[in-house]
Amino acid sequence: MGIVTVVAVFLAAMATSLVLFTAQAADPELSTDFFTGVGVNKSTLTGAYFTDTSLRTGAKFAPGAKFAIQKVNSESFAALTGLGVSSASLTYLPGGINPPHTHPRGTELLALRSGVLMVGLVDSTNKLFTQVLQPHDVFVFPRGLVHFQINLGKETAVAYAAFSSSNPGTISLPANLFGSGIADNVLQTTFKVSEKVIDALQAPFTT
Ligand SMILES: *[C@@H]1O[C@H](CO)[C@@H](O)[C@H](O)[C@H]1NC(C)=O
Repeated sequence: MGIVTVVAVFLAAMATSLVLFTAQAADPELSTDFFTGVGVNKSTLTGAYFTDTSLRTGAKFAPGAKFAIQKVNSESFAALTGLGVSSASLTYLPGGINPPHTHPRGTELLALRSGVLMVGLVDSTNKLFTQVLQPHDVFVFPRGLVHFQINLGKETAVAYAAFSSSNPGTISLPANLFGSGIADNVLQTTFKVSEKVIDALQAPFTT
């Protein structure tokens, strides 16, 4: 995916924030060319400061997992701080899923590099949009909307994502609802199911 696309999203986010007041901005404005941490002597910096090499290792799957994500954001790559961009590499084995989640602080552009990937997003009226992506397709997940991806093909799928925030954040719905300690009676009443069903949904998070 070209830097032009990333820049376009960034400019669009900037324009939107100007219209909707600056409180809507994803990242605070920098008053310097780029961010450096306290105590860093700028004259000692080299190109390495603007380089993240963490994707060289390739995807690392948790035991039994069919989906792996490598995030490149300001938490690990400080030079991104305040620049309104970040990225991630996503690898899906056949059947692998990136479960429904949202990014509260960033729009996501997902570019499929290889394989076939089904993506879906749900808007605030609960309307579902799905698409089966082919290599080189780019799909946009607007900021804050619930979305997911699943590899329904027979080959590994690899995608690259760009975000309109240096740290877009992720709220994973399964963990948020069933791994956060919300009381069983709240969940039972909400979903109108038995305690057994709630226990089963919480099980992956209570190891
Ligand atoms: C910053 O680094 C340069 C080059 O090493 C050095 O000459 C300068 O004294 C340093 N400045 C501070 C405030 O440490």
